Amino acid sequence: MVKNITGTLKGKSILVTAAAAGIGKAVALEAAQEGAMVTAVDIDMAGLEKIASDNITTMKLDVTDQTGITRLVNTNEPFDGIVNVAGYVHHGSILNCDPDSWKKSFTLNVDSMFYILRVAIPKMIQNGGGSIVNISSVVSSIKGFPDRLAYGSSKAAILGLTKSVACDFINQGIRCNAVCPATVDTPSWRQRCEELGKTMGSYQQAREYFEMRQPMKRIGTAEEVSGVVNFLLSDRGAFITGQFYNVDGGTMI
Ligand SMILES: NC(=O)c1ccc[n+]([C@@H]2O[C@H](COP(=O)([O-])OP(=O)(O)OC[C@H]3O[C@@H](n4cnc5c(N)ncnc54)[C@H](O)[C@@H]3O)[C@@H](O)[C@H]2O)c1
Repeated sequence: MVKNITGTLKGKSILVTAAAAGIGKAVALEAAQEGAMVTAVDIDMAGLEKIASDNITTMKLDVTDQTGITRLVNTNEPFDGIVNVAGYVHHGSILNCDPDSWKKSFTLNVDSMFYILRVAIPKMIQNGGGSIVNISSVVSSIKGFPDRLAYGSSKAAILGLTKSVACDFINQGIRCNAVCPATVDTPSWRQRCEELGKTMGSYQQAREYFEMRQPMKRIGTAEEVSGVVNFLLSDRGAFITGQFYNVDGGTMI
């Protein structure tokens, strides 16, 4: 449950990708509770419908579709905040990551942010600036984990993109930061437990493997990530740009 609601995003319009489930859903719901007008996009309209409200407008958008992204940005007022959440986990080392999986990882995890930001930033600047939060991962240039070749490489690229955008537009009112979770309880993580459970013996064993891997010996919640994201979107984070926030249960101690 989100606590201490204070209206910190009142008056702001926020775009959230991959908002039908997991971290994106938690970000969208909390931003709306904090007073923002949220545009929540995803390819899963059934999932989006569950969060639609007076403060949350839902739209179908595939973040790899440049035409759809341009249409969305051009038909909306400038966003004060953008949260790039959409991402995909490929399981495998360099010896079992085929070129298509490598390409898909970069298209969905990184190119999508490039497509959105290149059309949204000019409007943000005209509007006096805004805050961008990119969801990366501790599995990136921060830390290596087994069988995360394509995922970790693409999440590292997000950190480079984040620094670059922060640097280029610092004097035009744009802030750009990244949030780097460790393992968080979301539908796709449960799916990964199902898959790993087939080789480990059971879903429960896979779940415990992920739990024991984190120093706090538990999986994070999507709300523990959304709290940091919404802080960075708000004016409470006004002096922060180009930074990476690990939300990781102590993984990077
Ligand atoms: N869950 C974790 O343990 C964890 C850890 C670190 C980082 N992350 C990152 O957080 C982000 C969200 O992960 P999650 O686990 O909350 O997500 P999830 O996989 O549970 O949900 C992802 C959502 O993305 C949507 N989606 C998929 N492809 C899309 C596309 N092409 N266009 C638009 N929407 C699309 C899905 O429909 C779904 O609603 C990802 O970038 C992920 O890499 C997750």
